[in-house]
Amino acid sequence: MQSQRELCSFPIAPSHKSKLTSAGFLITEDLKHLKPSELSKETGIGLEECLEILKLVCSESVDGSKRNEAPKPAVSALERLKEEQSLPPIITFSEGLDNMLGGGVPLCKITEFCGAPGVGKTQMCMQIAVDVQIPSQFGGLQGEAVYIDTEGSFIVERLVDIAKATVDHCNEMARLEGFKEGEITVESVLSGVHFYRCHDYVELLATVHLLPEFIKKHPKIKVVLVDSVAFHFRHDFDDLSLRTRLLTTMAQSFIKLATEFKIAIVLTNQMTTKFSPGEDSRLVPALGESWGHASTIRVILYWEGQKRWAWLYKSPSKKESRVPYQITMGGVRDIVTFPADNSNDQSDDEPSSKRQKVS
Ligand code: GTP
Ligand code: MG
Repeated sequence: MQSQRELCSFPIAPSHKSKLTSAGFLITEDLKHLKPSELSKETGIGLEECLEILKLVCSESVDGSKRNEAPKPAVSALERLKEEQSLPPIITFSEGLDNMLGGGVPLCKITEFCGAPGVGKTQMCMQIAVDVQIPSQFGGLQGEAVYIDTEGSFIVERLVDIAKATVDHCNEMARLEGFKEGEITVESVLSGVHFYRCHDYVELLATVHLLPEFIKKHPKIKVVLVDSVAFHFRHDFDDLSLRTRLLTTMAQSFIKLATEFKIAIVLTNQMTTKFSPGEDSRLVPALGESWGHASTIRVILYWEGQKRWAWLYKSPSKKESRVPYQITMGGVRDIVTFPADNSNDQSDDEPSSKRQKVS
């Protein structure tokens, strides 16, 4: 059985399909360990029909082959490590942030940027969607991006600003190194961002489940960005167990996408206030502790004093650290400090009312 096959691709009655979707069953994996009685209870579909659905889904695979086919040969941990290390990361245009992450945003992994409103999560996503397209002659991945906007905060004019700055930078490098200019243009960058707007969690889940086919057709895709993963899951839900199940399914899909296609998954997440008995309340990433295991790398963006900071909060290989960054007209950058003058080269004029400190 192909665990990621979408249930909507099976010959199941449309009324049953919508009941399965509403109850959070989207792919074959979701039904794997269920008994007909459990499925019937969760979906409201009759017991006999549930038996039929389980028989159908659990006996067929997407290419018609049977479920007991031989597994893929094992790959040694060393081979896996070498393979991952051979894939260059996506730079962010902030050297401090890149160094903190071990060179940039890695492929084959899920990186989550969390932070309060206005701190720069969307700007970070746009920067990464542009930077993934930097031509290989400049050390870039020459890839493309899938950008999933759940909040309606994607502004194409802003992407144009960031793209222009990146194109100018590449052309300047080309002049200095004697390469041909014009390898990357604003138009090529905009064409390389495949944009989806998802208005609710069902649209988001459906989009994520269709991504494998989309990426197969667009093999240059090297990053999938979701800004933000939290938005629909924080507001549309009363049923917390359904929310947990859907988030778990989505996390599994992201992990599979990252490893199978060797791409980076970049998610943004909001912050929420956590109250613990006997302790001060503090801001923590939203969606709860179990979601916290979904991402391999977690970076918290926050304000302190007059600066924006990125705090590497979770990483499998890098130690916890913090770097300041700024958002300029051209996008995400390091803060450049001159010895005689402690002011920044470009002002980053965030209104103080939006600034929040994370503890
Ligand atoms: P939410 O989506 O509300 O949670 O916030 P966010 O973390 O996504 O913030 P976002 O990335 O939208 O950052 C907004 C900030 O980026 C603004 O307050 C500005 O400081 C900065 N910014 C946005 N556009 C520009 C621009 O064109 N020029 C400059 N210099 N800064 C910009
Ligand atoms: Mg945003």
